[in-house]
Amino acid sequence: MKLCIMGTGYVGLVTGTCFANLGNEVVCVSGDENKINLLKQGKVPIYEPDLDELIEKNVKENRLFFDTDSEKSIQKSEIIFICKGTPSQPNGQVNLKYVEDAAIEIGRAINDYKIVVNKSTVPIGSGDWVSMIINDEQVKLNKKVPFDVVSCPEFLREGSAIYDVFFTDRIVIGSSSKNAIETMKKLYEPIINQTFETDLNPRPKTKVPLVVTDLTSAEMIKYAANSFLATKISFINEIASICEKVGADVTKVADGIGLDKRIGREFLNAGLGWGGSCFPKDLSAISQIAAEYGLSTQIINAVVQANKQQRSNIIKKAQELLKILKGKTIGVLGISFKPDTDDTRYAPAITIINNLIKLGARVKVYDPIVKDRPEDLSEKSIFCKDSYEVAENSHLLILATEWDEFIKLDFEKIKGSMSNSLIIDGRNVLDKEVLTNMGFTYIGIGR
Ligand code: UDX
Repeated sequence: MKLCIMGTGYVGLVTGTCFANLGNEVVCVSGDENKINLLKQGKVPIYEPDLDELIEKNVKENRLFFDTDSEKSIQKSEIIFICKGTPSQPNGQVNLKYVEDAAIEIGRAINDYKIVVNKSTVPIGSGDWVSMIINDEQVKLNKKVPFDVVSCPEFLREGSAIYDVFFTDRIVIGSSSKNAIETMKKLYEPIINQTFETDLNPRPKTKVPLVVTDLTSAEMIKYAANSFLATKISFINEIASICEKVGADVTKVADGIGLDKRIGREFLNAGLGWGGSCFPKDLSAISQIAAEYGLSTQIINAVVQANKQQRSNIIKKAQELLKILKGKTIGVLGISFKPDTDDTRYAPAITIINNLIKLGARVKVYDPIVKDRPEDLSEKSIFCKDSYEVAENSHLLILATEWDEFIKLDFEKIKGSMSNSLIIDGRNVLDKEVLTNMGFTYIGIGR
């Protein structure tokens, strides 16, 4: 099939490249000329494992294209994916300007029947709103070209996005049009039946379930999924705080409850809590949507609050260990909100580093991928070339992001270069017993 992907961010680039790899002809469109030129030269503006190679392969095999001309790209495609960013506004509401611009471009360009797919995470009811915009644009041009809108939310995790497209737990298609649903089923058939060639693994043994529903339910599935995942994390972090007081090990508690099929072990890793661009935005959006109907989302609000608290808890641990932070040197390992991504949006490390600096500490930091200081990270933070430089003469080391390379560090060498042998393992990924026997004061989260 011929697809047009509007948006070349994490979702757009990954979605377009994966569909090209399944044999479709895909053009990814952006108004950002510089970005499109970089992509045409094979330079990928985001860090996502395996994405560079997959883009290069599909460009070489003439299935994947990049263009700034949205009109031409829309007109030659059968299915148009809106993969535009939907950032939060200061008041917590979703900024839909980019989605609106895309819908306007579609309304203006549409020349024959199209299926318009909302891949961006958009507020409930946005499918109808996109239809309205496309129709309004057509009226202005005295056009009445038929089209259908489909909601097809994505469930990609940054750092494993390609894997999450090809081996997703489910595909959700929301539309009132039988034709649109049948076409989308055809597009997703290779993923549903897992019939495509791949060297990615582990491959699911069964077919991928398909959920066909109405537009609104499909939009709600996305918000409910992210809200529940964030809830699991805030829940286990609250249990971790209790474990610290009673002397239990939260990782064992998570194992013990996670074996219950009704609970599941995933997303029960206690730590610094959740960050990234999706959870904060989606939980804020669903609260806003509820508020429009006079409903208060007490559980979701508590999940957000508990997550904020988790970051303050780390500062408290540092104060308990060092008493006075002013004048102390603290090393922080990791900036990105999770490993295998360069995304620092709402990263716990940034909140923690900024607060430590506000309290007078000197903070050194290193991240394997994030080399430029994010805009919201204090200018006083000191960027180091590696973990060992971070540890040098530090009174305290905080592991903020569980990059593999931090787990494999030479901790004897680390200990030898620190002023104090204090370490806070913000993601419970280091070996407490080994480090304690080495002479570290090891502080985990809930254990
Ligand atoms: C999330 C959803 O998982 C994905 O389905 C959706 O499409 C987009 O939002 P993402 O934000 O990329 O994906 O990362 P995810 O792996 O979900 O982690 C989110 C945050 O939760 C990270 O900060 C991570 O460190 C944290 N986390 C995750 C925990 O603290 N504990 C866990 O057990 C799992």
